[in-house]
Amino acid sequence: MSGHGTPIPMTSHACGPLSGEANVPGDKSISHRSLILGAMAVGETKISGLLEGEDVLDTAKAMRAFGAEVIDHGEGKWSVFGVGVGGFAEPDNVIDCGNSGTGVRLIMGAMATTGISATFTGDGSLNKRPMARITDPISLFGAQSVGRSGGRLPMTIVGAPNPVPVRYVVPMPSAQVKSAVLLAGLNAPGHTVVIEKEATRDHTERMLAGFGADISTQDTDEGRVITLVGQPELAPQTIVVPRDPSSAAFPVCAAIITPGSDVLVPNIGLNPTRAGLFTTLREMGADLTYENERTEGGEPVADLRARFSPNLHGIEVDPTRAASMIDEYPVLSVVAANAQGDTVMRGVKELRVKESDRIEAMASGLRANGVDVEDGDDWWIVKGMGQGNVPGGATCQSHLDHRIAMSFLILGMASLSPVSVDDGGPIATSFPIFEPLMKMLGADIKRGAV
Ligand code: S3P
Repeated sequence: MSGHGTPIPMTSHACGPLSGEANVPGDKSISHRSLILGAMAVGETKISGLLEGEDVLDTAKAMRAFGAEVIDHGEGKWSVFGVGVGGFAEPDNVIDCGNSGTGVRLIMGAMATTGISATFTGDGSLNKRPMARITDPISLFGAQSVGRSGGRLPMTIVGAPNPVPVRYVVPMPSAQVKSAVLLAGLNAPGHTVVIEKEATRDHTERMLAGFGADISTQDTDEGRVITLVGQPELAPQTIVVPRDPSSAAFPVCAAIITPGSDVLVPNIGLNPTRAGLFTTLREMGADLTYENERTEGGEPVADLRARFSPNLHGIEVDPTRAASMIDEYPVLSVVAANAQGDTVMRGVKELRVKESDRIEAMASGLRANGVDVEDGDDWWIVKGMGQGNVPGGATCQSHLDHRIAMSFLILGMASLSPVSVDDGGPIATSFPIFEPLMKMLGADIKRGAV
């Protein structure tokens, strides 16, 4: 995939109360990992609730190219017949991961310790993103890589036929990097140790343990020390993918800023490494409650009830929480624009290397819609205007970034004039039912720009 086809301009108009139940799709992080780990197990892994967004479908295609049998049974049910740790076949063709940093980085890690080569590419967004954060650690296992200048895709990885285990301190808070190193460590003999100074989403660790790998985590003064024993035989699993808290963020934030709203978002995973947005919203005065709290598949789960919250106030977001809400800052900035006072977000440098530079993309779109934003290298401040006072009226660029497109469409729901995005196409990468779901709740989203 080289882009998202013909741009799909979309416009969001102020709407009446949002109400009803928002059944959001499966978790993107867990969906990628289910396919990749399924492909590295021996036998049939059964998956239900898989996110069938473009990112995950590209990973499914990639796993087929590496020799796994991947079957789509319909309605989110999939089977993966894995080839075992170290069993990947060399792909006949270039692997196109589309828009997905998670897909390409995890797959590069997974093939880096096998004696095969593969060439990876992606769309205009992915081919701008830094890959040295993966090629550096996999070179320690013995893998080689050659890509474009600045460590960009397209890139060929020559896997290490005789990998050695590594001890690696992850230099930035990144679950993708941590996971790539762990997946590479699967086919290295002995102990691979990964140390992260800040806790990031721990789905890879939990799922590896579920597939039968010997993996342990210790919290130490150095950070979280994760130790994996290499060359296990992974046992196939039956996986029920929980719903994605990062997708839940959109109907939740929309309800909070849209007068009269009351929306239930059922079955959302509240893994502490993912749920930072919800804590932050409550600190800002949002009427957001957790109903029917329970544990499912070892993960805390609740139904989220979000109601219109007229008295939101800006806060200084706890920077130690950044990793647990890294994908949610764009939509948080929309809530911040509707709060009274400043919302200060620090320690968020990673936002600059996502599908787009998310600080720049949101700051320029918010400014175009009449909201004041200040920003620096690793911080930004949104100057809240109070509920319903955002002028709106501008068309924002989505920069091939699904979360930027969805965030601006949420902004339009509570602005004085409609807000447009130049291209809603990328929404299909993570939340293909966003448009019909939000309309069903009462949103007024139309195709075309104003
Ligand atoms: C992800 C990790 C995060 C996140 C991405 C999904 C994952 O990226 O932004 O959407 O599934 O591991 P980083 O690891 O680059 O922070």
